[in-house]
Amino acid sequence: MHGRVAVAVLLVTILLVALRSTRAQSKPSNPPRRPWYQHAVFYEIYPRSFMDSNGDGIGDLNGIASKLDYLKALGVDAIWIAPCFPSPQVDFGYDVSDYENIDKMYGTLADFERLQKLGTDHGIKIILDFVVNHTSEQHPWFVDSRSSRTSPKRDWYIWRDGKGDAKNDSPPNNWIAVFGGSAWQWDNTTKQYYYHYFYAQQPDLNWRNPAVVDAMYGTTEWWYQRGVAGFRLDAVDSLFEDPALKNNPVLPGTNAFGDPNIEDKYTQRLPEVHTALQGLRAVANKYNAVLIGETWTDNVAQLKPYYGASNDELQMPMDLLLTKLKFSAPVFREHIAAAEATGEWPVYVIGNHDIVRSWNRYGDGQHNDQIAKDMAAMHLTLRGTPILYYGEEIGMQNNDPTRWEDVQDPIGRRGWPKEKGRDGERTPMQWNADPNSGFTTGAPWNPIPPTYKTYNVADELKDPNSILNWYKGLLALRRANPALLDGDYIALNENDPNVLSYLRKTKNDAVLIVINMSAAPQTVNFKLSQQRLNVKSAKTLLTTQSSLQNNSSVAQLSLAPFAVYIAALKK
Ligand code: GLC
Ligand code: CA
Repeated sequence: MHGRVAVAVLLVTILLVALRSTRAQSKPSNPPRRPWYQHAVFYEIYPRSFMDSNGDGIGDLNGIASKLDYLKALGVDAIWIAPCFPSPQVDFGYDVSDYENIDKMYGTLADFERLQKLGTDHGIKIILDFVVNHTSEQHPWFVDSRSSRTSPKRDWYIWRDGKGDAKNDSPPNNWIAVFGGSAWQWDNTTKQYYYHYFYAQQPDLNWRNPAVVDAMYGTTEWWYQRGVAGFRLDAVDSLFEDPALKNNPVLPGTNAFGDPNIEDKYTQRLPEVHTALQGLRAVANKYNAVLIGETWTDNVAQLKPYYGASNDELQMPMDLLLTKLKFSAPVFREHIAAAEATGEWPVYVIGNHDIVRSWNRYGDGQHNDQIAKDMAAMHLTLRGTPILYYGEEIGMQNNDPTRWEDVQDPIGRRGWPKEKGRDGERTPMQWNADPNSGFTTGAPWNPIPPTYKTYNVADELKDPNSILNWYKGLLALRRANPALLDGDYIALNENDPNVLSYLRKTKNDAVLIVINMSAAPQTVNFKLSQQRLNVKSAKTLLTTQSSLQNNSSVAQLSLAPFAVYIAALKK
């Protein structure tokens, strides 16, 4: 009897297993399982300017912590905080004097730990900004290095004799600092020059020295152990320079600082960079962390090597090129096609703390709000991981100083008036219409433009047609839509000079995105059968044009100026 029961149980089990596996086979294949950062939306915070918690006019970590609910509701998954480490602030924190601490101005390590914990509770990961190319001249490593030619830290930086006699007027070669003047700074104590790609107060580390490499890898590990989910790596293009110090080719003309234009042939993107990045990645892998690169390249093709030949370098080299393009359907279409052609996972950026705000840069001076919505629609529906810049979501505008005396960014002080510096894109976040935009109870470190009275979080939340609510809608849609997360990018109507149209398509889902990038009404026709799509109807997911809200056919669409239409296609 027992034996028969056992046989019966066995038979039923075999049957069930067989049934399950046939069902598994007939089920549509699952979408690719992506690493967390490919489904995430990143948001850059300039900590001086996000939220001030103690009334000193400068944003801080507790301020950021107090706004996590906002970020969560917005739909952000990870925040990248620009440098908040101890620093003399010559380059507003990009001159770090201690990599393993928090600047007093921003709080304490305990505040950081609290923020990290709150972030976890909110499902928001924290990415720190790692200034890998250089330290502050006040970092103990450099203080030691410059103290004598025999200092144990001497070779942690790049020290060289001048040409001819050791004098302060004959730098080793013609290399120019991007922030103006020779890239070589004479140091009278040891009668040698040190190299700095940025300000003289930012001496370049010598990445050819294994001790430097170890120290830098160790720093990332120190933060990973405190829960940090990754790093944005500052200025990776300039990690190495030619050891033979060959002169850079001189180009015609001069720059805003009056220096000759040069081609950064021997000071940028040297092949050795890849070895350093592979090492940083190996450490990151132990913690499932992500590395984002500040990768200013001349073209998209130059981005590809940064992912690593075996995907063993940066998971997210930023495509900063979009920020240099003008607002135009054909121009964007061409750029997206080039990015897609690399076969990599794009990381599009439309603004950051170094460039004029996207609202001004893409705007035509008349329809900037509409254009901001168009940019958001494109940025958040393309294949890839978007990185937003704080304030972009409310249409924050540049507020450039009008007088040299008011400029704080040293680039602007040096390059005025051609180069006004970066204060304008770093103004305090506009939370509400109260004095100082709700950012501080004190005097803000950087003036807030008067437009904050209408462009602010509190008021925009109340307005269904605000830029902020448009962003929120897009972010919510993206989060829930498999085609927007994982679908291929398929360009449509590639000869249309005004309207950017594309599909995002997986095996089971397809979303159509149509953006009229012109100030005139446009009519578009779609022949989706050419995409082997048998579309019976469409369902509007999001649109700026109320007359399209109930639209169900996409054979032909009439679009208002700058209209956006996003629809799910039904088979
Ligand atoms: C990067 C930063 C910029 C900084 C520079 C030097 O480009 O984004 O703000 O001034 O590096 O560290
Ligand atoms: Ca403060």
